[in-house]
Amino acid sequence: MADKYSPVGVLDSGLGGVSVLRELVALLPSEDYIYFGDSVNAPYGTRADEEIISLSMNAIERLIGENVKAIVVGCNTISANIKLLRKKYASLPIIATEPAVKPAAESFPNGNVVVMATTATLRGKKFAELAKRYGSAANIIKCPCPGLMEFVERNETHSEDLRKYLEEKFASLDGLNGGKIDAIVLGCTHYPFLRGMISEVAGDGVRIFEPGAGIARQLKRVLRAGGLLNDKTGQGKIIWQNSSPDPRMNELGKMLLAMK
Ligand code: DGL
Repeated sequence: MADKYSPVGVLDSGLGGVSVLRELVALLPSEDYIYFGDSVNAPYGTRADEEIISLSMNAIERLIGENVKAIVVGCNTISANIKLLRKKYASLPIIATEPAVKPAAESFPNGNVVVMATTATLRGKKFAELAKRYGSAANIIKCPCPGLMEFVERNETHSEDLRKYLEEKFASLDGLNGGKIDAIVLGCTHYPFLRGMISEVAGDGVRIFEPGAGIARQLKRVLRAGGLLNDKTGQGKIIWQNSSPDPRMNELGKMLLAMK
């Protein structure tokens, strides 16, 4: 039975969830964490929904097997099916990730808000509802980015190929109506590691939004409400797990966690 000293499980299709983990550690440093990245099966974002759901269940069950007290889904693509997952694992608090469309749309009324995310996230019902809710506040432009998370998985966060990918992406955006980009929502947890280059290519004055800090606050609220906040002092530990047998994946995870 998990208790307040049990670890928090964090999962993603790969190493993107580390951008969420760093916010969790910043807000709740004395918690212990198990980070699971399913890099062998990444990317999820170009797969069919049934496949994504089945892989997500495997990852959640693996963490439940580690006796976690809560799970943070550090992945927008997995979170697109969060209702179903919460129903299946109802005894466990599950915190989800969603593109930060709300703060972006509210900060730029009538502005052009570009949401960079996986194909699966952008085609889902959950995103359609989000875009509908804030679509009257701002012009929400979908920007599916297949192939982009792979730059992070191969530790390529600043390269000419990446620049070229982003330049082509922004040049081919549909829906700007002759205007400019006001805000970019990083709707995939891998993209914060590419933020430097995204910002460089998008140009000065484009605000970038990511959800990590809000997820950390939500985890804190949920743990507190369940009497599950770890009251130890000092730094907790992080256990790194990856479906890939290549030890370099966990090493890359640690490096990304330390990245500014
Ligand atoms: N990091 C993931 C997300 O937030 C997904 C990347 C992928 O597997 O395609 O959506």
